[in-house]
Amino acid sequence: MSGPLDPTIANFGYIVASALFIIGLKMLSRQTSARLGNKLSSLGMFIAVVMALLSQPIDDATRMIIIGVGLVLGTVIGAVAAMRVAMTSMPEMVAVFNGFGGLASLLVGWVEFERGRVVWGLPDESVGLVTLIAIFLAVLIGGVTFTGSMIAYAKLAQKISGRPVLFGGQRTLNAAILLLAIVCGVLFITGVLSPQAYIAFLILIGISLLFGVMLTIPIGGADMPVVISLLNSYSGLAACAAGFVIGNTVLVVAGSLVGASGIILTTIMCKAMNRSLQNVLFGGFGAAAGGMAGVEGEARPIDAESAYYVLEAARSVVFVPGYGMAVAQAQHAVRELADLLEANGTEVAFGVHPVAGRMPGHMNVLLAEANIPYEQLREMDDVNAQMPNTDVAIVIGANDVVNPAAREDEGSPIYGMPIINVDQARTTIVLKRSMASGFAGIDNPLFYKENTRMLFGDAKASIEALVGQMKDV
Ligand code: TAP
Repeated sequence: MSGPLDPTIANFGYIVASALFIIGLKMLSRQTSARLGNKLSSLGMFIAVVMALLSQPIDDATRMIIIGVGLVLGTVIGAVAAMRVAMTSMPEMVAVFNGFGGLASLLVGWVEFERGRVVWGLPDESVGLVTLIAIFLAVLIGGVTFTGSMIAYAKLAQKISGRPVLFGGQRTLNAAILLLAIVCGVLFITGVLSPQAYIAFLILIGISLLFGVMLTIPIGGADMPVVISLLNSYSGLAACAAGFVIGNTVLVVAGSLVGASGIILTTIMCKAMNRSLQNVLFGGFGAAAGGMAGVEGEARPIDAESAYYVLEAARSVVFVPGYGMAVAQAQHAVRELADLLEANGTEVAFGVHPVAGRMPGHMNVLLAEANIPYEQLREMDDVNAQMPNTDVAIVIGANDVVNPAAREDEGSPIYGMPIINVDQARTTIVLKRSMASGFAGIDNPLFYKENTRMLFGDAKASIEALVGQMKDV
């Protein structure tokens, strides 16, 4: 049997893989190239995995069997989960995957520490400080990512309450936990082969896991998307540290890319919500909304036939989709209605809010799936500039992202979040099933405005009814 792969060839493979990651990531930023970008990055990961495997001593059959079983199991679980997950549950799945990425890094750090304690004491071996620091970081960040992601998952999947858990002295307690983690790190690094160091290391693992819980519980459910992209970034940093631990270049590169892109996405999402990251992490958004102004007035229902007459007479219509469109899977019916309106001489546009739905780009994905022409998609600022000249704004299962309280009510928990100003259109038709609140759990004064009409029912059924009306004439 031949030996492990020549390191020069492996490194060349890693360079190719890294280039594919970078090109793939770049291509993800455009809807038209995103699919290919995803495939290129996957090819890069495939090359990286093959190179890493071939670099192993292949004469150890047990080791190869364990790796093979792990690969098959992981591939099957990942593929089945990805195929079965509903589009609306994607953030939960991302949270779970981030979490396991963090756990994997923690385990790599732990195993390397155990292995190191056996060999580092031997006469020809020395302990590298960089390796020990990398082990510390892989364990700390990996542990935080694991439990933090699990809490984020449970909040998003509503397995636990999405309300922020806040108590006096919380930040001081968190600072103390972090300090203790650092002390444990210093203890195990300085006395690495002593029994005390081993105990400090085990305590560090426990503290890291606890710290992930403590950092995530004060954050409200509505901020979970930001937290998940931040945890995604952490999982990259943990993988990067794990790469240093085992001396694998491509893991360092891939981890850095995930770390950097995760933090960029986090910043973009914070901007979309007009919040600072500090406010998201410590602000307790979504906690009992004390000073919110009460919403008064009466909602005005409308039926499909009357809504049709409003639409039929409109010269410009803006569709504003939200989470309810995803639930109802109404995107194809929406496309049909948009086409009919265009054929009727109406100017049609789609206003896409960056945090509409339940994941970044959620609405873009659905609208692309229904082949809505890209030119009809407008960003929030563009569509808002046009809103006062728009005849009809149709809100399809959106709520928080069109809530004028974000603009008008300083006591509202979402005050300051940019919204799509559908209330400034001449007429607004809101499609939803009831008067229930959206993700942030707060009332929406839009529903009670003079120029708002409520078309109650499942969004797909309502749009299909409108399509039926348009086709009947
Ligand atoms: P939401 O505020 O969640 O409102 C969705 C509305 O859709 C609900 O009020 C619901 O009312 C309606 N709905 C549900 N099923 C429907 C159906 N079958 N037919 C018609 N309507 C239906 O959605 P949004 O405006 O898109 O705002 C997104 C919110 O989620 C924001 O608070 C955001 O921060 C948060 N969030 C965003 C993300 C990302 S990254 N996009 C991730 C997680 C959370 P009824 O029950 O009355 O029908």
